[in-house]
Amino acid sequence: MYDEQFRPQVHFSPKENWMNDPNGLVYYKGEYHLFYQHHPHSKIWGPMHWGHAVSKDLLHWEELPIALYPDELGQIFSGSAVIDKHNTSGFKTRDEDVMVAIFTHHGEDNEKQSLAYSNDRGRTWTKYDGNPVISNPGIKDFRDPKVFWHEESEKWIMSLACQDRIRFYESPNLIEWELLSEFGSEYGAHGGVWECPDLIQLEVEGESEKKWVLIVSINPGGPNGGSVVQYFVGHFDGTTFTCDDTKDTVKWADHGRDFYAAVTWSNLPEPVWIGWMSNWQYANQVPTDPFRSVMSIPRKLGLRRENGALTLVQTPIDLSAIYKGSVVSNEELTVVPGQPARIELSDLQAVLEAKVEKKTASSFSMALKGENEQLQVVFDLVGQEVRVDRTHSGEVSFSEKFASVDTMPLVEVKDFKVILDGTSIELFVNNGSSVMTELFYPLESIYVLEFSAADGEVILTDVSLQYLASTWK
Ligand code: FRU
Repeated sequence: MYDEQFRPQVHFSPKENWMNDPNGLVYYKGEYHLFYQHHPHSKIWGPMHWGHAVSKDLLHWEELPIALYPDELGQIFSGSAVIDKHNTSGFKTRDEDVMVAIFTHHGEDNEKQSLAYSNDRGRTWTKYDGNPVISNPGIKDFRDPKVFWHEESEKWIMSLACQDRIRFYESPNLIEWELLSEFGSEYGAHGGVWECPDLIQLEVEGESEKKWVLIVSINPGGPNGGSVVQYFVGHFDGTTFTCDDTKDTVKWADHGRDFYAAVTWSNLPEPVWIGWMSNWQYANQVPTDPFRSVMSIPRKLGLRRENGALTLVQTPIDLSAIYKGSVVSNEELTVVPGQPARIELSDLQAVLEAKVEKKTASSFSMALKGENEQLQVVFDLVGQEVRVDRTHSGEVSFSEKFASVDTMPLVEVKDFKVILDGTSIELFVNNGSSVMTELFYPLESIYVLEFSAADGEVILTDVSLQYLASTWK
C-alpha cells in the first residue's frame, strides 16, 4: 500500500478515492485531526463526506473511518472543528472535552450551517438534532464556516463565505448565531466565488504588534488560472474586519496552481495551516490511482514587513525527523553559462535548500530532469519573476489546462527551499515570503537536478539536499 506510481510519500493522501479541502482541523491531546472532503466510492467529486485522519507529528498519518455522512439535509461540505472547553454548547457527556464540528449542509437547492459533536476524541460523531443552526438567507453560495473562540469578547466567531464576501457571525454557544458584519465585496480579487475563509491573528516578525489576517480562497481567478488563496491584513475588533490595504490590493498566499482551500488548525498556540494540493481546473482528471488528491505539507504562518507591505510568511514544518541522508551538505555551487551544476537524484523525495549569493547572471534555473522530460524553475533576475514550467514535465495530457508556465513576481531572490515529493514541488523563496506549489507527473525514472545560469554567474551557498523517508512505512 501507498507505493503506487504517483503516490506522494511525505504528504497526506487518502488510501482510496476522491479528496478535496481540508476540514475540521483541530488539535486535541497530542493528535492533529485532519478531516477532508471525501467521496468514498469514486475518484471523481460527488456526494461529500468528511474523511478523517490523525497524526501525532503532522507527518505520519493514520486514516480513520469516515466521520460524517450525507443525510436528509444534504451533503457535508467544508467546515471547521473546535474544542468546546467550557461546554458552552452543552454537548459534553464525558470527561473528554467535546469536539464540535461546524460544517455546511449542501442540499439540492440551498446551503446552510450545521453542527456535529464528538465526546470520544473525534472517533464517533453525533449530528445536532436542531440542525441547521444557520439557515439559508437566499444566498446561493453560503458555506465553509470557520469558527474560533474570540478571547476578548468571550464569544465564538464564525467566518462564512457568501458568494463574493465574507460574513462574520457570533455565538455564545455554537448553536445560536447572530450576524455581525460583512467584508470584502469591494476588496481584493473577485475573479471567482469566495470560499473557505479563516480569520487568524499573527505576530509581525521583530515587532510586538499582532495583526489580524483574513484568508479567503477564490475559484476561479488565480493569477495563473483557477483556484488560489488570497489574504487580507488588518484589524478585527470582535465585530468588524477592517483591511489595512487599499481596495485594489491583492495578496496571494501561494502563486502556484496547486494550493487551495487552506485553513489553520484550531486549538494550537501558533498558527499552522494545510492546503489541498490541486486546482479545480483539472482536479478530477489528475492521473493518480486508486486515490485522487493530496494535501500540502503543513506550514507555519507568520507576517513580515517586506518592501513596506505586511506579507504572509510560510515555513514548512520541521522535516528533520524523516531525513534519510544528505547527498549534498552545505556546499557552494558556482554556476556559469554553459557549465551547469548537476546533482544526481536517486529519489524524488527530498528537501533542497540554498542561498543565492552572487548574481551577475540575468537568470538562473533549476531543472528536475529526466532524459526527455523536465520540470523547470527559472529565477528571472532581470524580469523579476519566477517561472515554473511544467509543459514537458511527464504526463500532462489528462487536461489541456495542466501543461503551463506559471509565474510569480519576485523583486529579489536571497534563498530558496524546495520540498519535492514525487509529484509535487513546494517552493519557498526568501525565507517563506514568496511561495509556489505545483504538481507534476514524471514518467521517467532517472532524475538529475541541474542548475544553469544565463549571461553571467550565480553562486549558490549553503546548498543542502536531504532525502526524505516515506511517512507511510
Ligand atoms: C472548495 C469547495 C468548498 C465546498 C467544497 C465542496 O474547494 O468548493 O467551497 O464546501 O469545496 O466539496
